Amino acid sequence: MKLPYAESHKIKMVENIRKSTREERIKWISEARYNLFNLKSEQVFIDLLTDSGTGAMSDRQWAEMMLGDESYAGASSYYKLKNAIQEITGFEYFLPTHQGRAAENVLFSVLVKKGDFIPGNSHFDTTKGHIEFRKATAVDCTIDEAFDTTKEHPFKGNIDLDKLEFVLDSNPREHIPMIVVTLTCNTAGGQPVSMQNLKEVKRLADQYKVPIVFDSARFAENAYFIKKREKGYENKSIREIVSEMFSYADAMTMSSKKDAIVNMGGFIAMRDPDLHREASTYNIMFEGFVTYGGMSGRDMNALAQGLYEGTEFNYLESRIGQVALLGKRMQEFGVPVLVPFGGHAIFVDAKKFLDHIPQEQYQAQTLAIELYLEGGVRGVEIGTLLADRDPVTRENRYPKLELLRLAVPRRVYTNNHMDYVATALGNVYERRHEIKRGLKIIEEAPILRHFTVELDRV
Ligand code: F0G
Repeated sequence: MKLPYAESHKIKMVENIRKSTREERIKWISEARYNLFNLKSEQVFIDLLTDSGTGAMSDRQWAEMMLGDESYAGASSYYKLKNAIQEITGFEYFLPTHQGRAAENVLFSVLVKKGDFIPGNSHFDTTKGHIEFRKATAVDCTIDEAFDTTKEHPFKGNIDLDKLEFVLDSNPREHIPMIVVTLTCNTAGGQPVSMQNLKEVKRLADQYKVPIVFDSARFAENAYFIKKREKGYENKSIREIVSEMFSYADAMTMSSKKDAIVNMGGFIAMRDPDLHREASTYNIMFEGFVTYGGMSGRDMNALAQGLYEGTEFNYLESRIGQVALLGKRMQEFGVPVLVPFGGHAIFVDAKKFLDHIPQEQYQAQTLAIELYLEGGVRGVEIGTLLADRDPVTRENRYPKLELLRLAVPRRVYTNNHMDYVATALGNVYERRHEIKRGLKIIEEAPILRHFTVELDRV
């Protein structure tokens, strides 16, 4: 019999969590204005809000924390991180930043100007935010298959080459500073991009002389899917695959809080020394001197170690296996989930789940609230709230997908926790027709509104 996957770690320290009562949760969520970001973490039993910065560091990462060099300039921790980034990604130059969006802020300060177009697969909200903040436009060129949650496709994060070529062809070259490829594509449901697609994007980019930037937050999970799903890669190691992936990029931004399994951190890496020089100025202004840029020495050490651990096959097998287990359990309860399952999260199709509630009443947010009330589980809306308003017309943007994302932190929860979450959602599914109304907005910010929005029941 084939042996099942098992975690590539055992547990050395635990953190207690507490179950609350339904009455408590009803009170707390109303005080939080129906925004799960406003809850105190102690009001949550199982927290699947994000896999970002919520992972458990290993004993080796904690040991590295003690070895951190806190010198302002030229710290050994900087060089340790530089070596790790070079070894894993192949990029010669890098700048540390305090997280992923800071990397975007610094890099886009150099590259993006008013009136620019930045094609890519569905840009993450902070990426889009940093583009639109500079009065430029993010153009979504993801393949159509990505927008059908029931369609099986091994690489739903892929870029549609015709859509990309149309953007490249119909705009002046000086208004296309880069193509952004997000690996895995979070907004499309944690879906990977194939190596073949990366190669083809690179061919087009070369033809139009446009640089490629990888938004690399979950690059290792992307490599795992390539190994499992793409012909010719089954016998390659994760590191070999990662190295080939990055060979098709000119630069990368990284939120280290995901695949590098640290609680805070990020970086930009690139091949071009001139780009490095230009970005250094902004890094010093916004983040800190180029050899620490928003990170302490100990954090850079833990990140270097995390990059190695995060690109180990056995770790990825159990991590992605646990996410798939959550997805399978939900399917057993009949819950409509996006397939194939994402690498970091299961995405529930709220349009199907609550098909009797209009999209104008924020179906995915409504579902997120119901799941919290049912079991104290916190997920996050990836739908109309997140999609924000059109920057020009200020009208709500209604995305094709209205999803509830349940993101699984790395090395934190057990499979019993996954069972609990699936059962809670199964219960909500059973009583879905009793949910009669959705939500309305009371108060919202002009950009990235989902973090602070205040809502009420319709
Ligand atoms: N790019 C992607 C694909 C992301 O998923 C995120 C963050 C960022 C960039 C920004 O990185 O948070 O370090 O500033 N995603 C988190 C999430 C917040 O929950 O998916 P950051």
